[in-house]
Amino acid sequence: MGSGTVALVFLLSVAAASVCFAVNVTYDGRALVVDGKRRVLVSGSIHYPRSTPEMWPDLIKKSKDGGLDIIETYVFWNLHEPNRGQFDFSGRKDLVKFIKLVGEAGLFVHLRIGPYVCAEWNYGGFPLWLHFLPGIQLRTDNAPYKIEMQRFTARIVALMKQNNLFASQGGPIILSQIENEYGNVESEYGSSAKPYIDWAAQMATSMNTGVPWVMCQQDDAPDPMINTCNGFYCDQFTPNSDQKPKFWTELWSGWFSSFGDPVPYRPAEDVAFAAARFYQKNGTLLNYYMYHGGTNFGRTSGGPFFTTSYDYDAPLDEFGLLRQPKWGHLKDLHKAIKLCEEAMVAAVGNTTSLGQNSEATVYQTESGQCAAFLANWDGQLDSIVYFNGNYYDLPAWSVSILPDCKNVVYNTAKVNSITAIPKFVPQASQTGPNSSVASFSSWSWFKEPVGISINRDAFVLPGLVEQINTTADKSDFMWYSLSDPLLRDGSQIQLHVESLGHVLYAFVNGRLAGKGSGKGKGISVDIPVNLEPGNNTIDLLSLTMGLQNYGAFFDLAGAGITGPVQFKGLNNGSTVDLSSEQWTYQVGLKGERVRLPQGISKVWASQPALPINTPLTWYKTTFSAPPGNSPVAIDFTGMGKGQAWINGQSIGRYWPANISPASGNCVDSCNYRGQYDQKKCLRGCGKPAQQHYHIPRSWLKPTGNILVMLEEIGGNPNNISFATREIGLICARVSESYPAPLDLWSDNYLTRVTKPTLLLECPFPNQVITDLPFISFGNPHGTCGSFTHGRCRSRQARRIVRKACLGKPKCSIEVTVDNLGEPCANVTKSLAVAAYCS
Ligand SMILES: *[C@@H]1O[C@H](CO)[C@@H](O)[C@H](O)[C@H]1NC(C)=O
Ligand SMILES: *[C@@H]1O[C@H](CO)[C@@H](O)[C@H](O)[C@H]1NC(C)=O
Ligand SMILES: *[C@@H]1O[C@H](CO)[C@@H](O)[C@H](O)[C@H]1NC(C)=O
Ligand SMILES: *[C@@H]1O[C@H](CO)[C@@H](O)[C@H](O)[C@H]1NC(C)=O
Ligand SMILES: *[C@@H]1O[C@H](CO)[C@@H](O)[C@H](O)[C@H]1NC(C)=O
Ligand SMILES: *[C@@H]1O[C@H](CO)[C@@H](O)[C@H](O)[C@H]1NC(C)=O
Ligand SMILES: *[C@@H]1O[C@H](CO)[C@@H](O)[C@H](O)[C@H]1NC(C)=O
Ligand SMILES: *[C@@H]1O[C@H](CO)[C@@H](O)[C@H](O)[C@H]1NC(C)=O
Ligand SMILES: *[C@@H]1O[C@H](CO)[C@@H](O)[C@H](O)[C@H]1NC(C)=O
Repeated sequence: MGSGTVALVFLLSVAAASVCFAVNVTYDGRALVVDGKRRVLVSGSIHYPRSTPEMWPDLIKKSKDGGLDIIETYVFWNLHEPNRGQFDFSGRKDLVKFIKLVGEAGLFVHLRIGPYVCAEWNYGGFPLWLHFLPGIQLRTDNAPYKIEMQRFTARIVALMKQNNLFASQGGPIILSQIENEYGNVESEYGSSAKPYIDWAAQMATSMNTGVPWVMCQQDDAPDPMINTCNGFYCDQFTPNSDQKPKFWTELWSGWFSSFGDPVPYRPAEDVAFAAARFYQKNGTLLNYYMYHGGTNFGRTSGGPFFTTSYDYDAPLDEFGLLRQPKWGHLKDLHKAIKLCEEAMVAAVGNTTSLGQNSEATVYQTESGQCAAFLANWDGQLDSIVYFNGNYYDLPAWSVSILPDCKNVVYNTAKVNSITAIPKFVPQASQTGPNSSVASFSSWSWFKEPVGISINRDAFVLPGLVEQINTTADKSDFMWYSLSDPLLRDGSQIQLHVESLGHVLYAFVNGRLAGKGSGKGKGISVDIPVNLEPGNNTIDLLSLTMGLQNYGAFFDLAGAGITGPVQFKGLNNGSTVDLSSEQWTYQVGLKGERVRLPQGISKVWASQPALPINTPLTWYKTTFSAPPGNSPVAIDFTGMGKGQAWINGQSIGRYWPANISPASGNCVDSCNYRGQYDQKKCLRGCGKPAQQHYHIPRSWLKPTGNILVMLEEIGGNPNNISFATREIGLICARVSESYPAPLDLWSDNYLTRVTKPTLLLECPFPNQVITDLPFISFGNPHGTCGSFTHGRCRSRQARRIVRKACLGKPKCSIEVTVDNLGEPCANVTKSLAVAAYCS
């Protein structure tokens, strides 16, 4: 080796070392202390298996652009250790790769190991095999459980250490979590609960990660665990010691959705209000749950009945597109908060009343640097408050941020950000291969045999058995079959079936006779049947739809047909009970056993005619991918209920036939003022909770992709189609009275006197504004997509805006009468613009 090479190696190792400096992370009563400096931090949840490694860099970049400092994720035990002792960190499970990408982007990581994670994830993240360990009791002071929990936690910590991922090693992880929301259920675990939590804290601490640990929703978290808050609002929360900072681990940016229910959303103004109130009231770290929710691929969704989409109304939508204005409005908030950081970390807030339902909080350094938050939490009334020698407008349910205790740079109710209307653009789906459009070739199919096909896995047991204990969740499906069932004749009688859930199909003599589903409360159905003289068969197919993930002892909640199963309505008035008969059982479907999802089996038929609206039918076709780079979805309208696979990878359970009640309380534009909960703002009444199902681009080839569907209740595969996820209209609306966004984003934001400004920017690079269907300066009404002119309207505005914006990738317009004309003095006017980009 020549000396030049030695020098090069030396230089390279110096360079490598310089990007891996250990960072000392501790905390005090005010904040996280990073290398001796208190920090005010913004975090957001992205769960790595809910997207693909190909999507991760873009999601992380958009998080950073949105002003996040930290990305938070759970660790999903049942993904990583599907069988005890067999670990899997490949593909979407590549936790190390995900953390490295976050670190490379310059962001920190909060690693919530759990290993119980809830997360609307199957069985709360626990592997099912835990349930079968002798003597085990989960989440309590139980030796078999603690051994497993410690083993997995140690395994993850060791993996992180091997890769130098803790901040103490120069990596991005600055916080970790053990357990999860145990305080919510603790009392139900009796006297074993506290010793368990103390043990968990001690066990975690003993792992010597060099970074602090948190326990969320755990008021009695022992030192040095930081107890943190989860909720829609956490401004009222205080940690259990004045030596611990006030952290919010889950600010719910929306809510998850369930099949059969309308879809919840949470207005941006209220999310921003909740966040700003938290920082106002001594909070120094919050995490949006979720920042990107993503997709529950495969059978990973919990529940039961949670949808495959885990969009969560998050700032990044399920497909990874910016959800606007939420993303932009929070980005502005984060910038405003950062302008206050110096003052906020120097002291605790001094809060004084400004009148009814309003207050000011001042943070001041010894040198006199001053930041203030002014809040009005009245659900209806705007107010004008007097603070620090000036008057300030405070809209109802809003917080204003004054990084110099004088100038308002941000108000949570005044959205400067662009609004974007996402849409699914249907793609051609005609039969016949065509490499340039998304098209299906012809279909082949397989009729799943009803009941127990001759199979060595079938078994006979006296009486009815619980399903999860029997399937160990290897499949959603279990058959309960009985032939020659006590009664050899009977017309117009009922088959009565009671099940713990989640979905039931009852076949009599091979024909679907009835079905039922039950959410939490189980199933009880009376199915009219006519028995044939002689031997009859009853085949009950029971399904799980995502195992429960939350609540005390959720792991013990059973499923399946535990009875009674009876014939009722006999002429002589009596009941024939079948519950303790010799039932034959089969876990899973034949199609699963012969690996139809992988598409390779020989059982497929394509003659004589495509079966339509027939239950328990498998379908297969090939297709070419929709052209372009936009995210892809499949529209399952026309199908009933089932599961689907693309090139052998499960895209999840689908159920478009499950329509939410039309009479529900849905509004498209919900009033953000006043206390929010997940029932307040709903969309999609009278519609399926999910119609479009995400197919990650990286799972698709240009042509020759295989789609397999298992249809349970009957559907028409000719009806399905592809769509791409695009941004349609973009809009902005800014009032004369708004703080100027340019103030916020310029370096000398306080001295530079700028005017309220409307900014429009195309959502994607290489786009320009091609059309401006709406422009109005005055008092326009409506929202993006439905703007209308008001009575007052400037004549010049249209010409000025078109000149500034058409043909440009972005444009800015001063929202003043000097610039746009004076259509009506003494009225607070706003400029509203709608645009298309291409
Ligand atoms: C880390 O910071 C804490 C307080 O900020 C300090 O007490 C401690 O000595 C530091 N540790 C190292 C290794 O620098
Ligand atoms: C902020 O912290 C200080 C000091 O602990 C306390 O006096 C004050 O009440 C806190 N404010 C809020 C809103 O929690
Ligand atoms: C808090 O602010 C009020 C009003 O400005 C002031 O009178 C009081 O002295 C302040 N309290 C502290 C602890 O600084
Ligand atoms: C196939 O694609 C070509 C090119 O886009 C188009 O002209 C043609 O109409 C398509 N054919 C079918 C059957 O969709
Ligand atoms: C009833 O039919 C089933 C299925 O064909 C058969 O296995 C069973 O032996 C029959 N029972 C009697 C008593 O004939
Ligand atoms: C599952 O099996 C275990 C052990 O046999 C039993 O204790 C438990 O009650 C069963 N669970 C249900 C829900 O039936
Ligand atoms: C009622 O009718 C069923 C079916 O014929 C029979 O099995 C049962 O014994 C009868 N019960 C009584 C009380 O007669
Ligand atoms: C499905 O397609 C058929 C024609 O093939 C049509 O009659 C029917 O209305 C469609 N159903 C749905 C739900 O789109
Ligand atoms: C606006 O209000 C002021 C003061 O209330 C009044 O003097 C003036 O005439 C008003 N102007 C218009 C155009 O109404």
